[in-house]
Amino acid sequence: NMLIINFGGQYAHLIARRIRDLGVYSEVIPYTRASLEEIMAKRPSGLILSGGPSSVYVPGSPSIDPRILDLGIPILGICYGFQLIAKIMGGEVRRGEGEFGPTRVRVIQEDELLSGWNADIVWMSHSDFVSNLPEDFIVTSISEKGYLSSFKHKSKPIYGVQFHPEVKHTRGGSLILENFIRISGAQKNWNAERMLSLIESYLAKEISGCKKVLAAVSGGVDSTVSTLLASRVAGDKVVPVFVNHGLLRKGEAESVLSSLKSIGIDVIYVDASEEFLSSLKGIKDCEKKREIIGEIFARIFSEISEREGCDCLLQGTLYPDVVESGAEIGADRIKSHHNVAGLPPWFKGRVLEPLRYLYKDEVRKLAKYLGIPEEIVNKHPFPGPGLAVRVIGEVTEEKLEIVREASSIVEEVLRKRGLYDKVWQAFSVVGDDRWVGIKGDSRVDGYIVTVRIVESEDAMTADWFALDREIMEEISKRISSIPRVSMVTYAITTKPPSTIEPC
Ligand code: XMP
Repeated sequence: NMLIINFGGQYAHLIARRIRDLGVYSEVIPYTRASLEEIMAKRPSGLILSGGPSSVYVPGSPSIDPRILDLGIPILGICYGFQLIAKIMGGEVRRGEGEFGPTRVRVIQEDELLSGWNADIVWMSHSDFVSNLPEDFIVTSISEKGYLSSFKHKSKPIYGVQFHPEVKHTRGGSLILENFIRISGAQKNWNAERMLSLIESYLAKEISGCKKVLAAVSGGVDSTVSTLLASRVAGDKVVPVFVNHGLLRKGEAESVLSSLKSIGIDVIYVDASEEFLSSLKGIKDCEKKREIIGEIFARIFSEISEREGCDCLLQGTLYPDVVESGAEIGADRIKSHHNVAGLPPWFKGRVLEPLRYLYKDEVRKLAKYLGIPEEIVNKHPFPGPGLAVRVIGEVTEEKLEIVREASSIVEEVLRKRGLYDKVWQAFSVVGDDRWVGIKGDSRVDGYIVTVRIVESEDAMTADWFALDREIMEEISKRISSIPRVSMVTYAITTKPPSTIEPC
């Protein structure tokens, strides 16, 4: 296994995901928990020091116990990690004019790390640079501006790169990671079967201490995989519940029910649409909407769990949430769903999180392996409060109908063009702004529908998707023919500074 020490932000998760994609199990730990003892206890084949936003020469900046470099474990430093190795080993790091984005580098000495790597464009994102090579290190490549872009120790398995091999824009970046895996001798045995056996043994152990397990199913891939595996392990002890809040996508309730049925999950179906929709009447503020929806969900689930005698709750928490909770590397709470997963206040029992070791793309792989229907596996992520966050302002029946129809048009067109699986999310949004239109010779005071299609790897950052004109035209024509819609706009702001959902 590979251990990635995180010096801040999401850099480390991207590295871990790439390493896992290459077949090696990898874990992320924050630098604050990376003591010598902790590392030795985990017995990693290799260590990767991630990038991060700090400067190694600033007093108190993130660091590690220097003895870690003497353990004989192969080490690869990336960006901040590269500079940190330089500093610890007696080199020097200074602030320069920096390099950002695609940058040309020249290999001057091909070592084991760069072996066979004949590309020359890498992704850089740094202002600090290694200005003095530590003793006993060799420069292996130099950037177009003359900065040191990689080095290795003369005799120890310690390597560093200034650029980001984990970023797709670095040509042949995965070959460099692959080379490091080979150097570390890590075993390539991380695949669906291993994920499955890890999860099943976790579930068997945890569920043995439960009377009954409440499994809230949304029809998304995470809750479906968790529920299916828990049911396989514990049969009738698992009580799957699917609540329809009336804020689902077009035809979703029916298709979720039939997909779940096809894989043998028999849910308690609660249609609470009326209650949700009537409680949202007159509510304009988005956070307030989330709060109301959350409260109703909680009430329904606690009633069912009491009735059924459930003392455990199954949650689809994924790995990034687990790692960053308890980590000092905090983030502002932008929207209330960004709460770190944990025990919901209404639940008195214990929480089971069988997917706590996995990333989203791994859950999808596993879902495919388990034979879960394609429509669930590849379904775009959908917020818990559903269409309520895609209607800006009050959720009226009219706006809900428009957003549901317009989103289904966007999805349908993308599917037809083979683009649905290529993008992260694709939907429509409606608010209260109007645009005067002409329909059949009469004036219409119509709604403005905004289409949002984004590409993303993990929803932390996102880029708007550049659609062909012809596809835009089809989407626009079809959405504008919805009664009371007179304008279609396309959202073209990345995240950050925007977010994916409108609220
Ligand atoms: P934002 O809008 O913050 O969304 O860029 C990031 C990702 O999270 C999804 N999202 C939610 N998921 N409950 C959820 O389970 C929510 O309340 C929620 N709000 C947003 C969003 O669809 C995107 O994938």
